[in-house]
Amino acid sequence: MRKFEWTEQQHGVFIPEIDREHQLIFTLCRNLQRALRGPAPTEQIRSLVNELAVHSSEHFWHEERQMRATGYSFYAWHKQQHHTVRSKMTVLEVRIRSGDRDAVCELLAFLHGWLNDHIRVTDRMLGAYLRNRQRELTARAS
Ligand SMILES: [Fe+2]
Ligand SMILES: [Fe+2]
Repeated sequence: MRKFEWTEQQHGVFIPEIDREHQLIFTLCRNLQRALRGPAPTEQIRSLVNELAVHSSEHFWHEERQMRATGYSFYAWHKQQHHTVRSKMTVLEVRIRSGDRDAVCELLAFLHGWLNDHIRVTDRMLGAYLRNRQRELTARAS
């Protein structure tokens, strides 16, 4: 099984609240993996998937709010990537609700690749933009 391990070197976007949210998403994926390996009841798996979906969704909204508030040029491109995960989760949710563990494995495999690609490129670009914007505002104010 693939490892969900957040490291600053690989995944840091250097915006503390975004990094904390990413770390939580990785932790929730690990909890789900652990539950799948053991004899966890379907209800527990469903509740872990739900927790992961809620936190992912809140995180996407948070980034999207920040992009809108700061007039970020790549907003549509970035949001589209979030939308890909939302669609994937919606499609798999039906199977997951009926107790299909393969669907949960499929979700984790998808998220493993997606999180690594998205955080390392797309979120890092946003992090650099937000940090630079903050520097500009500070420079202007001083
Ligand atoms: Fe993002
Ligand atoms: Fe993110």
